[in-house]
Amino acid sequence: MKKLAAVLTALSVAAAAVGLAFAAEPNAKKGRYLYRTKYCRTCHGKTASDLSPASKTQAEWKKALAGWQKLPCAKDWKDVSAEDRADIQAYVVEGAKDSPNPTKCN
Ligand code: HEC
Repeated sequence: MKKLAAVLTALSVAAAAVGLAFAAEPNAKKGRYLYRTKYCRTCHGKTASDLSPASKTQAEWKKALAGWQKLPCAKDWKDVSAEDRADIQAYVVEGAKDSPNPTKCN
């Protein structure tokens, strides 16, 4: 019984570690949803410039997002957590102009 408890403890520690590893990895699929539905395309492509991942190179996106506080729309980013920003960056960099798979939003 003691042995079983030890095995279960070891298993749950391993599962937690795997969970953490996944949480730490930016998620481009989630970024796609955040960019297109939740935070960015609500304006971009409507009331603001038609920004798709393919609008910029990977370096341009990284630079723009690293300095997001300086963007004209920074005040509209206040609900975007650091994790969400990382997911959005993963999505736009994956579909950037100079990526293997340039992505347009429409
Ligand atoms: C409330 C509307 C609004 C929202 C939401 C919004 N933006 Fe903007 N954004 C603007 C406006 C307005 C400008 C300045 C004029 C323009 O580029 O159309 C701008 C400018 C920018 C620029 C600089 C211009 C360029 O082409 O490089 C970037 C980059 C940008 N936004 C990215 C984003 C991203 C990424 C999000 C989602 C996290 C976002 N914006 C959310 C309205 C918005």
